[in-house]
Amino acid sequence: MVDTAANTTFDSKGEIMTMRTTVAAGIATAALGDEVTLCGWVANRRDHGGIVFLDLRDASGLAQIVADPSLSGCEMVHDVRAEYVLQVTGVVSPRPEGTVNPDLPTGAVEVVAQTVVVLNRSEPLPFPLDETHHGVDESLRLKYRYLDLRKPRMNRNLRVRAETVRAIRQAFDAQGFVEVETPTLTLSTPEGARDYLVPSRTQPGSFYALPQSPQLFKQLLMVGGLDRYYQIAHCWRDEDLRADRQPEFTQLDMEASFVDDVDIRDMVTIAIQRVVGTVTGRDIGEIPSMTWAEAMARFGSDKPDTRFGCELNDVSTVFATSEFRAFAGNAVVAMCVPGAGDASRSRLDAWTDRSKALGAAGLVWMRVTETGVESPVAKFCTDVEIAALIETLGAAPGDLLLMVADARALTCQTVLGQLRLEVGAERGLRPTGLGDQLNFLWVTDFPLFEPESQGDPVPAHHPFTMPHPDDVEFLSTDPLRVRSLAYDLVLNGIELGSGSVRIHRPDLQAEIFSVLGIDEERAEERFGFLLQAFRYGAPPHAGFAFGVDRLVMILCDEQSLREVIAFPKTQSGADPLTGAPGPVDASQLVDLGLRISVPKSPGS
Ligand code: AMO
Repeated sequence: MVDTAANTTFDSKGEIMTMRTTVAAGIATAALGDEVTLCGWVANRRDHGGIVFLDLRDASGLAQIVADPSLSGCEMVHDVRAEYVLQVTGVVSPRPEGTVNPDLPTGAVEVVAQTVVVLNRSEPLPFPLDETHHGVDESLRLKYRYLDLRKPRMNRNLRVRAETVRAIRQAFDAQGFVEVETPTLTLSTPEGARDYLVPSRTQPGSFYALPQSPQLFKQLLMVGGLDRYYQIAHCWRDEDLRADRQPEFTQLDMEASFVDDVDIRDMVTIAIQRVVGTVTGRDIGEIPSMTWAEAMARFGSDKPDTRFGCELNDVSTVFATSEFRAFAGNAVVAMCVPGAGDASRSRLDAWTDRSKALGAAGLVWMRVTETGVESPVAKFCTDVEIAALIETLGAAPGDLLLMVADARALTCQTVLGQLRLEVGAERGLRPTGLGDQLNFLWVTDFPLFEPESQGDPVPAHHPFTMPHPDDVEFLSTDPLRVRSLAYDLVLNGIELGSGSVRIHRPDLQAEIFSVLGIDEERAEERFGFLLQAFRYGAPPHAGFAFGVDRLVMILCDEQSLREVIAFPKTQSGADPLTGAPGPVDASQLVDLGLRISVPKSPGS
C-alpha cells in the first residue's frame, strides 16, 4: 500500500500545503511584506507603461497582481490572456495612494509578483463572465455551464446552497431525526405530475418510475419504527417547466410518528430559522399562520405574498340590493390599490381584459375622488353604497378600487388575487427582489378535495391526507366542504413546501378512496404495499417537504431555480451541456425490448 500521507506536508496551521499558500481573499488579512503563492484564473489584464496588472480570481475572490515582465520569472505575463490559469508568487504590498478600491475586500493591497507560472492556457471564452454584461443567451450559458459557474455570483449561490443543506441537516439531526435514503428506482408516487420512466432490462415491458417524492417510503419508515426520518431527496416530475420548476429538483423531506400538525410545523420552523440565521444572519422569529379560507378571502391566493397590502374585501353585503345587474345577487370582492387612481384608461382596459382571461365576467374600476368616485358604473350605485364601499376598503382620494362579481366568491378571489400581484408589481407596491424581505407564512386547513369538472373530486394534496376531525361527518354528504390537516409553507408568495397529517387507519383510508372513486381493486393495484403495511400497526404520523432549490433561490435573491442548481435544464427540459435527452444505441433498445415509434408531425 502506498502511504500517500508520507508525502504530504502541512503548514503552520496544520492544513495540507497545496500549490498555494493562501487564497485570493487571504491577502486582505496577510501581513504587508508576506510572501504568498496564489493560484487562479485571470479575470482581467491591464497594461500600464510596461507593467501588467492582473485580477487573479479564485473561489474566494479577486487579488490584484502587479507584474513587471522585464523581471526574470515574470516574463510569461506578456502572453497571459483572460482565463489563463496562473500560479503567482509575490509579496503582499499596500496599493499606492489613490488606487485603493474600497468596493473590493482585497482592495487595499496587491501582490507584487516575483514569479508567474502559466499552469494552463484558455481559448477566448464564448461569452464574457463579467456580470455587468447582460443579454447572454441562457442556453449558451448552460452549454458552457462550467464557465458560467466561474462567475462569483454563481459560485456564491452554490456555496449558499451547500450551507443551506448543512443547516437543514444540523437542525433535523439536533431534533433526533434519522437520515435515510429511499430508492430512486421505484413505482409511481401519487404527487400528480407525470412520471419519468426507466425501462427494466430484466423484465421487458416493465418500468420503474423515478420518484416524484419519497412519500410512500417515508410513511413505510414510520411503520418500520424509525420514528423521525429526513432526507435531502432528489425528486423527478415530468411537468410543464417554469422559473420555479425543474424536472429534477431537491426536497427536504421529513416525517415523524406520534406527532400532530402543529408539532410538524414547529419542527420545520426550527430548521427554517436555522437555515435563514446561518445564511443571512437574520432572525425570522415565529412563522405566522393563516387558514386557507382566510388566505383566499384576504389575498385571493393559497400562497399569499404578504409583503404588501391591497388586501381583498368581500363587499357583497354593500351591494346586496344593488341596481347594477352584475352585482345584484352575486358575490362581490373588491381591492383598493393605493395611489393608482391616475392609471390611464388603456391600463384599466388591459386589467379588465386580464380579469376576463382569468375567468371573470369583467372588472369594475372606480377612481376615488374628493367627492366620491369616478367610474363608468358610478351611475348604477347609490351614494350610500359608494360611501360604505370606501369605508370598508379604507380608501382615500387618489386610490383605485377594483371589483369582481361572480356567483362564486372563490372565482372573484382568485381573479382579484392574481390581479393584485400583477397590478401590485406594475405600480411598484410589490417588492421586486425576492429576498430583500422574508415573509414566511404557514397556510393551514386546506380543503381535502378539489372539484373536477367531470366526475369524482381529486385530492387537493394526496390521497393519504387526514381529513379535519371536525369535518369527517361530511365525507359522504358534502366532500368538497371537508377541510384537511394539510398545510403549506409560503415565502414571499411562493409555495415553499407542503405536508399533512396522514391517514393511518385502513377504514378511513377506504372511505377516502371511495370518495375519490378509487375502487378497492385499483387501490390495491396502486398502493397495495402501503395499505398492507398499514394493517400491521401503523403509528399516527405526519410530515412535510420543502423545495431546497426554491428556498435557496429566494435566499440568493434570484428569480429562477436555474441560478441555484449546478447543472439545470432549460425550459424545455433539455441540457445543452451534455445534449440530454438524446438517442440511444439500437442495441440498448433491443436489450430493453423497446421499439421507438415517434408520432409523425402533421404534414410530414
Ligand atoms: P409537494 O408536491 O407539494 O409535496 O412538493 C413539496 C415541495 O417541493 C417543491 N417542488 C418543486 N421544486 C422545483 N421543481 C419542481 N418541479 C417542484 N415540484 C415541487 C416545492 C413544493 O412545495 N410528498 C409531499 C410532501 C408531504 O406531504 O410530505 C410533496 O412532495 O417547493
